[in-house]
Amino acid sequence: MTKRTIVTLPGDGIGRVVLEQALRVLKAAGFEADYAEGDIGWEFWCREGNPLPQRTIDLLEKHKVGLFGAITSKPKDAAFAELAPELQSKNLVYASPIVGLRQHFGLDICLRPCKSYPGNPLNFIRRGASGEIEEPVVDVAIFRQNTEGLYGGVEWTNPPQQVYDALMTHPKFRQNFAWAPKEEVSVSTRIFTKKMTHRILHAAFTHAARYGYRSVTLCEKPNVIRETSGMMYKMAQEMQKSEFPQIELWNTNIDAQMMWLTKNPEDYGVIVAGNMFGDIVSDAFAGLIGGLGFACSAQVNPDTGVAVFEPTHGSAPKYANYPVSIVNPIAMIESACMMLEYLGEQEISSRIRKAIASVVANGEVRTYDMMKLTGSPAVLSQGAASTIGMADAIIHQLEL
Ligand code: NAI
Ligand code: MG
Repeated sequence: MTKRTIVTLPGDGIGRVVLEQALRVLKAAGFEADYAEGDIGWEFWCREGNPLPQRTIDLLEKHKVGLFGAITSKPKDAAFAELAPELQSKNLVYASPIVGLRQHFGLDICLRPCKSYPGNPLNFIRRGASGEIEEPVVDVAIFRQNTEGLYGGVEWTNPPQQVYDALMTHPKFRQNFAWAPKEEVSVSTRIFTKKMTHRILHAAFTHAARYGYRSVTLCEKPNVIRETSGMMYKMAQEMQKSEFPQIELWNTNIDAQMMWLTKNPEDYGVIVAGNMFGDIVSDAFAGLIGGLGFACSAQVNPDTGVAVFEPTHGSAPKYANYPVSIVNPIAMIESACMMLEYLGEQEISSRIRKAIASVVANGEVRTYDMMKLTGSPAVLSQGAASTIGMADAIIHQLEL
């Protein structure tokens, strides 16, 4: 069999550091692949005026599967200021390369699992009826529509006249916004299509059926956002009835869900939402299982098979240039496990997951976040493991 090639996309800051450690773990677990590194991130924006060069797109087009670290994004003016001087007259506008990848490859299905590891000191706890401490087991799979909605990029400040005129045909716009001068109006649209809404709902229900989850919860706001959330809810009801009668469909509003998830997180199974609410609800659940050091994700286009796996954290610039890195590589290693499962390497993935679980449960090796320390180089002398130390411990477990 020819070896598969994985496109590594280290990006910036700690993205580079954690990806390197995930590759060591993959190797130690016996995963065989060739790797081709794709250029992406801030360095390429500054040097070439493009944080997502065409050669990187071509590489992913060819090999289909990418393992991504994290990138740095900065606001418009800061981005312009760091652009190479010879590029500053070229009217270049910075756009996040990870959002660019999602859109270019139509990676519309985003899965962010949040499952607590027994023994993780960062697990959510609450008080029971008699004041006792309870630690509910969280095992939630969040499906986030990844290409549309509020992150679709269709927005204006001081919109073009045709857009403004079109908005003026809406009675609510006339009633609520016509008093404002056009130049002072900003519009960000929330566009949902039936096709993409169907795909994310179907992915969520299929996952629930395959992995034995009791319910799918649609987390939107159909009572207020009647057209987009409303369409999604109606489609979810039809899909549940016709294709997945054995799965319960629950409907929660995003705001109420933020309250419910600290009251009864163990009740939820699969959650499905549009782009923005999916982003919010997945961060909130991640907080219950240990935060950014534990939050992994997959982004897939089921038609083309292109898939990119990444931790949900960013490049954490303040920790990027430590002589010995202190950040937690588990979110990145878990993302690599999701990649393995996508590639049909369930056995290797489950061995890595077990090794992580043993290290967490054992408790001897913990990165600074797991010890609730404030990140600084000093954490290493306070007993925290380094990034490499954590990867070493996982590799050691694999080799037992
Ligand atoms: P961030 O996720 O990079 O870091 C926020 C804080 O979370 C860090 O300061 C650190 O305290 C903690 N943290 C993050 N990852 C950790 C890990 N593996 N282990 C332990 N602690 C960890 O988010 P921030 O500071 O808002 O953004 C920094 C840069 O990253 C920005 O330029 C932002 O645009 C970019 N970003 C990129 C993302 C991506 O590549 N997908 C996602 C989020 C932010
Ligand atoms: Mg987010």
